[in-house]
Amino acid sequence: MARVDARQKESRTGRRYLLRTIVPDDAQTLLDHTKDFEATALEFSVTLPEERQNSLEKRRAWVQEHLDEPDWLALGAFDGGTPEIALGAVCFATHKLKRLRHMGTIGISVHSMCRDEGIGAALMQGVIDWARAHPTIECVGLNVFVSNARAVHLYRKLGFVDQYVQKAFIKMGPGEYQDDIRMALWVKDVPPAGG
Ligand SMILES: CC(C)(COP(=O)(O)OP(=O)(O)OC[C@H]1O[C@@H](n2cnc3c(N)ncnc32)[C@H](O)[C@@H]1OP(=O)(O)O)[C@@H](O)C(=O)NCCC(=O)NCCS
Repeated sequence: MARVDARQKESRTGRRYLLRTIVPDDAQTLLDHTKDFEATALEFSVTLPEERQNSLEKRRAWVQEHLDEPDWLALGAFDGGTPEIALGAVCFATHKLKRLRHMGTIGISVHSMCRDEGIGAALMQGVIDWARAHPTIECVGLNVFVSNARAVHLYRKLGFVDQYVQKAFIKMGPGEYQDDIRMALWVKDVPPAGG
């Protein structure tokens, strides 16, 4: 069971929210959150709206999988006054192959009405703290478009370092490409170089 203790938080502008593990009953709230992400941040997304599994049932199953897998996690920031609004959500999943299970990948989004208020940093820190205390997770990784300056700034501020850049990894349209950065934060001892 991947869970964290719920915590009351306040954003940089005084917005109150609850940082807690996402549960299956949050499925509709998450679908609404995804709509905002698609309307405001599609230029930073690999997944297109028509490729996303947008049914309530599938979203519930996605949440349940994050609860059931001991090294996966999904956290949400829920509005203090209107808890059916997700101000942000972050997920972390490891690979299913045993030799890759010591590291995982983060996905994150914050609602367009409250970006740059520190909510993304709080969500990321929630995953990092959980991963540090986890018995087997050693590295938290993520992929980010080079053009996503806000996200790159946030990840570097939290201690993530660039691992490599994949040139033209994303094809946005005919003749239009985006480079992608793989970043990582070691939450246990950093393995020796070349090891
Ligand atoms: C990226 C995202 C998750 C960050 O969450 P957030 O709540 O906005 O982040 P925070 O407020 O904690 O931090 C944002 C930081 O970026 C800075 N920033 C904002 N615009 C910036 C820019 N164009 N260039 C550099 N830094 C920028 C802010 O000043 C802040 O830094 P500071 O705390 O040092 O002042 C959120 O903005 C988001 O959902 N964006 C759209 C979806 C997305 O890009 N998801 C990530 C895909 S990898």
